[in-house]
Amino acid sequence: MDRTYWEKIAPDYNEEIFDVLKNDDKGLIVSAIRKYASKNKTVVDIGCAIGKWLPVLSPAFKKVHAIDISAENLEIAKRLYPELTNVEYHRVDMSNIRAKMPVCDVGVCINAILTDSLKKRKSFFMNLKKCIKKHGYLILVIPSLESSMLASIIRQRWNPDKDADDVINKKKSGIQLKNILQGNAEIDYVPTKHYLKEELQLLLNNEGFIAEDFQKIEYQWDTEFLKPPKWLKEPKPWDWMVGARKL
Ligand SMILES: C[S@@+](CC[C@H](N)C(=O)[O-])C[C@H]1O[C@@H](n2cnc3c(N)ncnc32)[C@H](O)[C@@H]1O
Repeated sequence: MDRTYWEKIAPDYNEEIFDVLKNDDKGLIVSAIRKYASKNKTVVDIGCAIGKWLPVLSPAFKKVHAIDISAENLEIAKRLYPELTNVEYHRVDMSNIRAKMPVCDVGVCINAILTDSLKKRKSFFMNLKKCIKKHGYLILVIPSLESSMLASIIRQRWNPDKDADDVINKKKSGIQLKNILQGNAEIDYVPTKHYLKEELQLLLNNEGFIAEDFQKIEYQWDTEFLKPPKWLKEPKPWDWMVGARKL
C-alpha cells in the first residue's frame, strides 16, 4: 500500500473503498468530532482521500488541514468542495519521517494507517505525534483485528459465501501465517493492518498519547459477507475508534 496504490485507486475511490461515514449508523465518529470541535481550533484530517469528512470538519473548526499521500485524491477533494474555503490541502506522506506537516489542536485519522509495512507504520505513528499540539486530541479509527478474526471464525464455521476453502492459499500459506501473526489480514486480497484494542493502547502510549476512550464503530454483516445468515445479528463487525489526548 504505497503511494502508487492510492493514486491508482483515486479515480474509482467511491466504488473501491469502504465508506466509514455512510456506514457508521450511530454517527459515533461525527459525535466525537463535534465534542472536540471549536471555531477557535484547527484540525488536521490525516489521510483525507477525496474529502468525505471535510463537510463535517469545515463548519465546526476555524481551519482544516486536509492531508493525503495521493495528489489525485487531493485534486478530487478540491474539485468536490470548492465552497469549503477554510480547507487547505497538503500532499504529505505520513510514513516519511522527514515529512513536514501542519500542527493542529485536533487530529482526525480515519482508516488511513492500513499499510502492512511495520517500518511505514512506525513513522506514521511518530508523525501523528508531531502534527498534534500538546494537550490536543486525536480521533483515530482503525480496522479491528478482533472483528476480522470473528468474521474469519464465522466464515470457517458457517461458510455463508461458500468461500471458506479459498481463504487459505496453499502456495502462500507461510506468508499468510506470518501476516496474520502481525495483524495483517487481507481485505480484497490486499494485506491490511488490523489492530487489537490493547495494541492501540500501547502504540499511542509510546507516542505520548493517553488513549481515553475506545468505541466500536459497528457495521452491518453484509459489509463482510455477500449473504450473511438471517440469524447473524449481534455482535456486529466493527472498527475501533480511539479518542486519545496528547500529553
Ligand atoms: C481508506 S482511505 C480513508 C479515507 C478517509 N479518511 C475516509 O474515511 O473516507 C485511506 C487514505 O489514507 C491515505 N494514506 C495512506 N497512507 C498514507 C500516508 N502514508 N500518508 C498520507 N496519507 C496516506 C490514502 O491515500 C487514502 O486516501
